Amino acid sequence: MNIAIVGTGYVGLVTGTCFAETGNHVICVDINEEKVRQMQAGQVPIYEPELDHLFERNAQAGRLKFTTNLAEAIKDAEIIFLALPTPPGGDGAADLSYVMGVADDLSKIITSYKVIVDKSTVPVGTAEKVHAILAKNLDESLFDVVSNPEFLREGVAVEDFMKPDRVVIGTNSERARDLMKKLYMPFVRQGNPIYFMDERSAEMTKYAANSYLATRISFMNEIANLCERVGANVDAVRKGMGSDNRIGKRFLFPGIGYGGSCFPKDVKALAKTAEEYDFDFKILKSVMQVNQRQKNRLVEKLENYYGDELKGKTIALWGLSFKPNTDDIREAPSLLIIEQLLELGAKVQAFDPEAMSHIQQIFGDKITLCENKYEALEGADALAILTEWNEFRTPDFEKIASLLNSKVIFDGRNLYSLEQMREQPFYYESIGRAT
Ligand code: UGA
Repeated sequence: MNIAIVGTGYVGLVTGTCFAETGNHVICVDINEEKVRQMQAGQVPIYEPELDHLFERNAQAGRLKFTTNLAEAIKDAEIIFLALPTPPGGDGAADLSYVMGVADDLSKIITSYKVIVDKSTVPVGTAEKVHAILAKNLDESLFDVVSNPEFLREGVAVEDFMKPDRVVIGTNSERARDLMKKLYMPFVRQGNPIYFMDERSAEMTKYAANSYLATRISFMNEIANLCERVGANVDAVRKGMGSDNRIGKRFLFPGIGYGGSCFPKDVKALAKTAEEYDFDFKILKSVMQVNQRQKNRLVEKLENYYGDELKGKTIALWGLSFKPNTDDIREAPSLLIIEQLLELGAKVQAFDPEAMSHIQQIFGDKITLCENKYEALEGADALAILTEWNEFRTPDFEKIASLLNSKVIFDGRNLYSLEQMREQPFYYESIGRAT
């Protein structure tokens, strides 16, 4: 099939590359000329495992192309995906100006039937709005609008796309439904379902899924906080709970709060939608408050340990991205933690396998960025672990002890077992586990 992808951000690029991989002809369009030039020259503008070689293979085969020209990109396309940014506006509601702007442009250049797909996370009712904009200039027989939310996790996006748990497609048009089914069949060969539903339900599914996962994390963070007070171990509690099939083992890990470009934005946007419909969505409000509080947890622990003496101490940070296997620092707990430590007069030495250049852009020379995890420990008074990168899981504890001024570890991700740490000479504090 011929596919156009409008917007080559994270979602657009992964979507376009994966559709090319199953033999479709994909043209990606973006207004950023420099980025398009880069991609035409074979460079992938984002860090995402597995994407590079798929990108290279399909670009070389001529199935994956890039342009800044919208009319050229959509000319032969049967399906046009809108993968545009929907940043939170000042009031927390998603800003739809990019999506609406492109819909308006499309309404002026479409001359044959196209399916226009909302791939971006957009509030309930957006498909209808896009439809209305297109219908201003375009006969309704020439298009259908479909909502097709994505469920990609950064770091495993290619795998999530190629083997989705499910595909959600919102449309009442049979013609659009058949085309979308044809496009997605190669991805659900193992029997995972494609769920067809109306547009509003598809839009809601995306917000409900992300908000539920964020709720689950906030709930576990609260259980962890309570475990610390009652003297229970959240690791054991998590296992005991998670082995109930109705609960499930995944996404029950407490930590220093969820971050990233999705959960914080989507929870806020759903809360905003609820407000607009005059519905008091109490749980969501708490989820946001709990997450904000959890992001303060690690510095609180450091303050409790050091008291006023935190001032002047050097804290080594391991991990700065909001989660492992990405260079993304959007809404990362590390940002707030660094800010707070600097405010309290502490010095920061940090290492992250991928995210350091982004952190440098924000903090400049206010913190010291180090070549590797051990260099970050040199002369530091304590180690604080913020992101569970694999390379932090089995460190050389003797080396850590010899490099740190004092043997103190604050672990925001519960990377080490308490049994293991009891044999080590460290003062060790983690989340939801008595020391
Ligand atoms: C999330 C969803 O998982 C995807 O399904 C969705 O498509 C995506 O948002 C999106 O809307 O685009 P992502 O933001 O890449 O994906 O990251 P996750 O792996 O979901 O992690 C989100 C945050 O939750 C991270 O800060 C992570 O550290 C935290 N987390 C996750 C926990 O604190 N505990 C857990 O048990 C799991």
